[in-house]
Amino acid sequence: MCGIIGYQSQNKEAFDKLDEGLKRLEYRGYDSFGFATISEGNLLVEKKIGKVSTSSIKPLPGKIGIGHTRWATHGKVTEKNTHPHKDCAGRLAVVHNGIIENFQELKKDLILKEHIFLGETDTEIIAHSIEEFLKIGYNLKQAVIGTGNLLKGRNAFVVLDSTTNKMIAFRNGSPLIIGIKESEIFLASDIQAFLHETNEVMYIDDNEIVVINGGIEFFNLKNGEKIEKRRIKIDLDSNVFEKGDYKDYMLKEIMEQKETLAKAINQDAQKILHVAQEINNAKNVFFIGCGTAARVAHTAEYVFSMVADRQVNFIPASEFENYKHFLLPETLVIAISQSGETADVLEALNVAKEKKSRIISITNSPESTIAKMADFPFLINAGPERAVASTKATTAQIALVILLAYACTGELIEGDKVLLDVAGKVNDMLNPRYKEHIKALAEKIFKKENAFIIGRGINYPMALESAIKIMEVSYINSQGFAGGELKHGPIALIEENTPVIALVSEGKTKEEIISNAIEVKSRGAYIVGVSPENNEVFDYWIKVPEVDEVASSLVNLIPMQLLSYYLGKFRGHDVDCPRSLAKSVTVK
Ligand code: F6R
Repeated sequence: MCGIIGYQSQNKEAFDKLDEGLKRLEYRGYDSFGFATISEGNLLVEKKIGKVSTSSIKPLPGKIGIGHTRWATHGKVTEKNTHPHKDCAGRLAVVHNGIIENFQELKKDLILKEHIFLGETDTEIIAHSIEEFLKIGYNLKQAVIGTGNLLKGRNAFVVLDSTTNKMIAFRNGSPLIIGIKESEIFLASDIQAFLHETNEVMYIDDNEIVVINGGIEFFNLKNGEKIEKRRIKIDLDSNVFEKGDYKDYMLKEIMEQKETLAKAINQDAQKILHVAQEINNAKNVFFIGCGTAARVAHTAEYVFSMVADRQVNFIPASEFENYKHFLLPETLVIAISQSGETADVLEALNVAKEKKSRIISITNSPESTIAKMADFPFLINAGPERAVASTKATTAQIALVILLAYACTGELIEGDKVLLDVAGKVNDMLNPRYKEHIKALAEKIFKKENAFIIGRGINYPMALESAIKIMEVSYINSQGFAGGELKHGPIALIEENTPVIALVSEGKTKEEIISNAIEVKSRGAYIVGVSPENNEVFDYWIKVPEVDEVASSLVNLIPMQLLSYYLGKFRGHDVDCPRSLAKSVTVK
């Protein structure tokens, strides 16, 4: 959430590198963007409302600079609130990611010291605070350390100083990484910003600052001491971040599920068995996550109950603190997060750490903060997910959860077999005819303003997840319900031809969900059945492969992802960057 880029070179112009890097970070926020460079000792700043990929900005001269793509938190989407922000003297420019929790207090103090604020962001206080420390005789490094130590919350920022021609980065809680290509130095919120240039990186850890001035020097925020860091070569091909032949990342990522399920379950058997033992021995187990990842955590309750006869609890990560009195050293907290950087999950894991509970992570990013906090980090190996709406990561997470549940019963090989069979069926399912069939449904219903999705058992969290998907990509008001719940209130919203999508699986819930569909059909609903078999109640049938009930969560979700995609397209939206959202939610 918010993308930061920085660049310095001895002989190359910075602007194109910053611009290209920022375009690759656009998934982190796309409300507005801006750049700052230093040219002949002057600080130059340009900003614009909108997306960096679709608007152009006048290139700025200079061999050092910073850029930012914003997801607004404090203050509306205006040019004044767009980063970079300057100090009063116009010597410094700052870009920032995170939320400064004590910003009101800090701002009041700086206003008393006669600093002039131009916008409403919390970021502006960083520029003025550094300026204040410089005024009282600190050098730039000391002023950044002084400011960094004042900030409460999860933050990362970079300050560009036109007097010393230096750039200093600060990290505490929000991601930042350095890339090195001969004499060029990159700095970014995510490696994606510069992987097309270099795969040689240096990691910045929390409570560190980095001074970039031709060289790269790391310092500890607490005592100002120098830290030695290694350069590491990352084994990742930048092509994995490209769209290839697809128009949108979302469709590309949906189609990649032909392979990603099999990759997700290709895990080290010893590690799976070890974690299964931890789950079996734990006094209590909590699955946590946010948004779509929370729906996966919710699914885990059903998976463990059905496969392993084991009770586990699902808590949305943002609510986890309320359960902290249940946490013991024998508690296991299993965090699900595609990005591995979600602020609410990190906060929850801090609570778990305080209570000395054990942590397992299921992420898509090996170097993420959440993976680093875990006692046992699992990777789903889905490859980068660029579209804001999560698709391939979701099904990969569910597959891994199912595998873990099988391992808990001593049936890891059986679990592997079941899931490989599902992966093969998904591969067959995602063919051009199938896409056309779902597109035709989207064309029929895209003008509707409401849609309901119902499911029972494991398909209940899938109904909730389908609703998130439709809502975020098409902006249709879609709601998911447990099949039995519809008649306890929401049925009042069913009008003639309101789409109601029933997620059906072969198994004990089949007859009941069909009855629920009949109930709403008699109130005029247009019934879409996602089911292995057709039924006379369906007005439109989306066939899914016949798999066991647990795996129906996987095969039923995929057509719903495609439907969301086509609904978004028919409604003319940018499906990869839905309004008001961002991919990596690094603020609480
Ligand atoms: C919706 C979606 C979000 C994320 C949520 C958590 O499609 O992607 O709801 O699931 O913001 O993100 P991660 O998984 O990165 O922790």
